[in-house]
Amino acid sequence: MTYQNYSLKQLQQIDAAHHLHPFTDHKEMRGAGSRIITHANGPFIYDSEGTEILDGMAGLWCVNIGYGRDELAEAAYAQMKELPYYNSFFKCSTPTPVLLSKKLAEIAPKHVNQVFYGSSGSEANDTALRLVRHYWVLEGQQEKNRIISRKMAYHGSTVAGTSLGGMDGMHKQLNGAVPNIVHVMMPYAYELALPGESDHDFGLRAAGAVEEAILEAGADKVAAFIGEPVMGAGGVKIPPASYWPEVQRICRKYDVLLMLDEVITGYGRTGEWFAAQTLGIEPDTITTAKALTSGYQPLSALLVGDRIASTLVEKGGEFNHGYTYSGHPVACAVALKNLEIIEREGLVDRVRNDTGPYFAKALQERIAGHDLVGEVRSIGLMGAIEIVKDKATKERFLPAGSAAVTVRDYAIANGMMLRATGDTMILSPPLIWTRDTIDMACDRISKALDLAQADLSKR
Ligand SMILES: Cc1ncc(COP(=O)(O)O)c(C=O)c1O
Repeated sequence: MTYQNYSLKQLQQIDAAHHLHPFTDHKEMRGAGSRIITHANGPFIYDSEGTEILDGMAGLWCVNIGYGRDELAEAAYAQMKELPYYNSFFKCSTPTPVLLSKKLAEIAPKHVNQVFYGSSGSEANDTALRLVRHYWVLEGQQEKNRIISRKMAYHGSTVAGTSLGGMDGMHKQLNGAVPNIVHVMMPYAYELALPGESDHDFGLRAAGAVEEAILEAGADKVAAFIGEPVMGAGGVKIPPASYWPEVQRICRKYDVLLMLDEVITGYGRTGEWFAAQTLGIEPDTITTAKALTSGYQPLSALLVGDRIASTLVEKGGEFNHGYTYSGHPVACAVALKNLEIIEREGLVDRVRNDTGPYFAKALQERIAGHDLVGEVRSIGLMGAIEIVKDKATKERFLPAGSAAVTVRDYAIANGMMLRATGDTMILSPPLIWTRDTIDMACDRISKALDLAQADLSKR
């Protein structure tokens, strides 16, 4: 690798001169210089100075089997030598997407048996949007095209992804979203439950917002509801147990399709292959990406339920949609090996039976009591820490988001990578974390909280 011939300073200068980063204030970043991560192994990432950092975010919610897996590199190498690329247009196929589709049908909920590939979660959601609208056209209901989503949802950053998502800042810059997408309240009890309202009742009320949106438009105008099982980028917002079954009941009542965006939750994170299984719901589409290859290759898979797939097949006619890299043979080879490793090492069961419960307990016992922490919550190996100025009143530090960034910066300086979203710290580590790794993370987070508290109290 030639990067070793460059100093950190040189790499930062070249980065600043030529590289536009995602979701970045370039003026700010170019002043400070980027953090250059050069290598990684197991649960750790290393920067160009050799600093070891425990990766609490699995890259960007994706490196579920951890770093440094030779088997994935070997799978990619072997596939590249044999057939680096061929398309799956024009009635062609290649072996690895064929076999991956079979594997995905095996691990997905029973009624989900078809797969449409892309290279990112955003692309997969674009496919999902087009597919559900196409479905209703095939069913003779051209006007049933409205999608109900939620405020603060994240469904990717293409025009379709941004439009489906409910992030205000993204919508402002989009300046003209895909029409006929509406956003209802999110199921975020910590901030939105009324005084004295139980979690259960709040969950039903939040689900009720979906019904209101259906009734407002008319059920004959609503194609689908889309949601992340747990709102990830929005702050690991875990809905009350009453929420999803009620949303599903409402969708069924009005014949509205259910689209589940499992780009973060897919492939073991909640202790089942898919959160749909954890929640016991039966979505018509399941968007997946990220951990499908543990991030070693860009690949997404929209899992399509039998209802939509059978209409598509029975009614026929071309679905005018697809990507050059749909079913990329190398990415699919890597995904197959990744799923094999997850299975062989029993990572999904481990999250469900061991590390998930241990993680929940550790956050409750070691983090929740800190003065800066309003609430901790987790599901499987996915967690959130709410940063507050006052535990009792839930008052936040000003300006909004600044305290969480302070905690994050101290965490990184102390060898712990986690993310700040608004006033929430979020964690989504590789599924290879053990009890010891969880303890190590809690040590480092506690220390970061102490340092941040001392700092914030001086401001
Ligand atoms: C729930 C969800 N959907 C979609 C996406 C978009 O995926 P990608 O960045 O691969 O386009 C993300 C990315 O974080 C996500 O969290």
